[in-house]
Amino acid sequence: MPKAGKGQLLIEVRAVAVNPLDAIIQSNGTVMYGWLQYPVILGEDVAGIVVETGTGVKDFAVGDRVVAYAMGLEKGRDEASESGFQAYAAVDAALAAPLPSTIAFEDGVVLPLAISTAAAGLFEEGQLGLDYSHLGNVAPREEIVVVWGGATAVGGNAIQLARAAGYRVVATASPKNHDQMRRLGAEAVYDYRDPEAADHIIEEVRSSVVAGILAVAVGSAEPSLRIARATRATKIAMASPPVSFYEQPRRRGLSLARTRLFLRLGTRTALLQVRSRAHGIRASFIWGSAIATSPVGPAIWGEYLPAALASGSHHLYPEARIEGDGLPAIQAAIDTLRRGVSAQKLVVTLDPAVRT
Ligand SMILES: NC(=O)c1ccc[n+]([C@@H]2O[C@H](COP(=O)([O-])OP(=O)(O)OC[C@H]3O[C@@H](n4cnc5c(N)ncnc54)[C@H](OP(=O)(O)O)[C@@H]3O)[C@@H](O)[C@H]2O)c1
Repeated sequence: MPKAGKGQLLIEVRAVAVNPLDAIIQSNGTVMYGWLQYPVILGEDVAGIVVETGTGVKDFAVGDRVVAYAMGLEKGRDEASESGFQAYAAVDAALAAPLPSTIAFEDGVVLPLAISTAAAGLFEEGQLGLDYSHLGNVAPREEIVVVWGGATAVGGNAIQLARAAGYRVVATASPKNHDQMRRLGAEAVYDYRDPEAADHIIEEVRSSVVAGILAVAVGSAEPSLRIARATRATKIAMASPPVSFYEQPRRRGLSLARTRLFLRLGTRTALLQVRSRAHGIRASFIWGSAIATSPVGPAIWGEYLPAALASGSHHLYPEARIEGDGLPAIQAAIDTLRRGVSAQKLVVTLDPAVRT
């Protein structure tokens, strides 16, 4: 049984959501997260009930319903107690928000890594560096943020956060998701599969200042660079590498497929950096967990989310799709995620009544 450390909450986990990161670590663990020692507990998104509070915790009490970002996989953390895919997890109180009684655990749990990554990309100094003072309570601005991959979990939360910060938003998504993107706050949406999507966006935003471009899905960096060049935007924040990590077998060590993948990754990343810098554009890679040690974390988790969840002003995006109950259902959910989802978050409930 984990203990709640200083500034932490011990949560009885009632629902978890799976992220591409969980699938990527299963494929690449020791390559990308070299500090992890097998066997590893995965999981970043949890919702549940506080059963213990650590020293220094002021804003939460035993019995509170919360949603939280479990940090166990990050360097220097203890994944055995701090990762999400277990019955009890220790989470930072600073990365938790109260869940109103009107929101089910399985609906709230769609948020943690996605909203944290969106916030890191939009607001961290080394990323788009947008102004996030008075989130949810600012006068509209004229500047535009482009979100390439608006229907992703990260993108749908980014649209809402950018709007809460007062920015106008233009996004891409499949046509079936366009209405939903508009409901989240995008003023225009284009189909990323349309070869002319970048041209349409350039035309749309031509007379405005583009404050930055959030390139979320794999393959987003290229069109984002094109838009930045044409609109004189100087910042692109990228959530994904230029190649998909899903394409390789799940096994340890180097293989031919893995060597090829990393060669492609290295070449494309280097080329992108050279081409960006040649045009005075900074293309930076987002690390969602950066908000845990920056002022962005408290602004999102301590101020914005509690109020936005209580008022219902932040939509719980993507919609939860329940894949099963109990820890054994998680692997199937990760496998389903590898095959792709559209505007949905795969969620597994953990009902303590059926726990063995
Ligand atoms: N760096 C970090 O810290 C960090 C953290 C979290 C996630 N990520 C990365 O961010 C990406 C998104 O993660 P997520 O959990 O938000 O994903 P997700 O919700 O699973 O993404 C699914 C969505 O991707 C959209 N999509 C697929 N291909 C696209 C393309 N070429 N252009 C635009 N949209 C596309 C689809 O939109 P439609 O349904 O409209 O077709 C689909 O709805 C992943 O690559 C993930 O690894 C990075």
